[in-house]
Amino acid sequence: MPRKHQPPIELIRHLADGRWHSGETLAGVLGVSRTAVWKRLRELETLGLELHKLTGRGYRLARPLELLDAETIARAMAPARRVLLDKLEVLPLTDSTNRVLMENQLERALCFAEYQSAGRGRRGRSWVSPFGANLYFSAAWSFSSAPAVLSGLSLAVGVGLARMLRELGIAEIGLKWPNDLYWRKKKLGGILIEHAGEAGGPWRVVAGVGINLEMTEKQAEGVDQPWTSVAEACAAQRLEMPGRNQLAGQCADALLVVLERFSAEGFAPFRKDWNEFDIARDRLVRVDDGGRWQEGKASGIDTDGALLLQIGNEKRRFVSGEITLRLQ
Ligand code: BTN
Repeated sequence: MPRKHQPPIELIRHLADGRWHSGETLAGVLGVSRTAVWKRLRELETLGLELHKLTGRGYRLARPLELLDAETIARAMAPARRVLLDKLEVLPLTDSTNRVLMENQLERALCFAEYQSAGRGRRGRSWVSPFGANLYFSAAWSFSSAPAVLSGLSLAVGVGLARMLRELGIAEIGLKWPNDLYWRKKKLGGILIEHAGEAGGPWRVVAGVGINLEMTEKQAEGVDQPWTSVAEACAAQRLEMPGRNQLAGQCADALLVVLERFSAEGFAPFRKDWNEFDIARDRLVRVDDGGRWQEGKASGIDTDGALLLQIGNEKRRFVSGEITLRLQ
């Protein structure tokens, strides 16, 4: 459920510089009592923001924060993509950007959030979404074709994002079927496609993406698998970490390029690249086939994006959306 009130965004804006601010100054700037400031600071911690407190100096964020801004994100996108959108918004806080776009009727829209109280992952899992630590965003798009044909879309989105991250200079980016972004054997991000539509179309699709940027161990409490972040990948390769708005714009661009191309050509133009990013290829894997574990050698994907598994003498096909793949 959405939270009843918005986070104290003005307070976050003041603290975003990462410097010390006394309780008195904050109270003055916000026009509230020091007790009210203290309550709001406690609220920031419940949103996953890490605060330092020091007697005599006041409060500061554990590190400076570049807040997302819709205009700055739009400027980081190619004009040809910007014009495709009916709306681009940044919400300080929501339950889930996928939920927001599933419930509005815009044909083409992008929604970013700084915090999600009920971020959705695949297969009913939740997506841990601490304030300002990562990127959480969704795109709504209308397709004329039915969901069966859309089964490759989540793989195609993975390809678009993987290409973009590789172009930033991050080597060793991989994809784990069906749509996990990986860096050096750890999860860097995930994609959740949801759709609504009526027989005969059009089908409204919401493609949601979470990419870990600078999440700390503390903020990641509740993440139930090995994870990594863009910050870790950049540090390991001595790359400068891109700004959050810049990266948000590039992610949005990459996502819209995929949605546009997929509308016209389906999954075919993405298959070759997917195979190149596939981290499971030729490895022994286990697939959760509706509660029954199947073991075999991962043998790439077919033309629709279904996983191909060599089990003994038989090659079996697993359809996107029903299966979790675990590397052994
Ligand atoms: C996965 O389980 O790997 C998919 C995770 C998808 C998370 C993103 S964050 C933005 C968007 N809104 C959501 O509620 N989920 C997706």
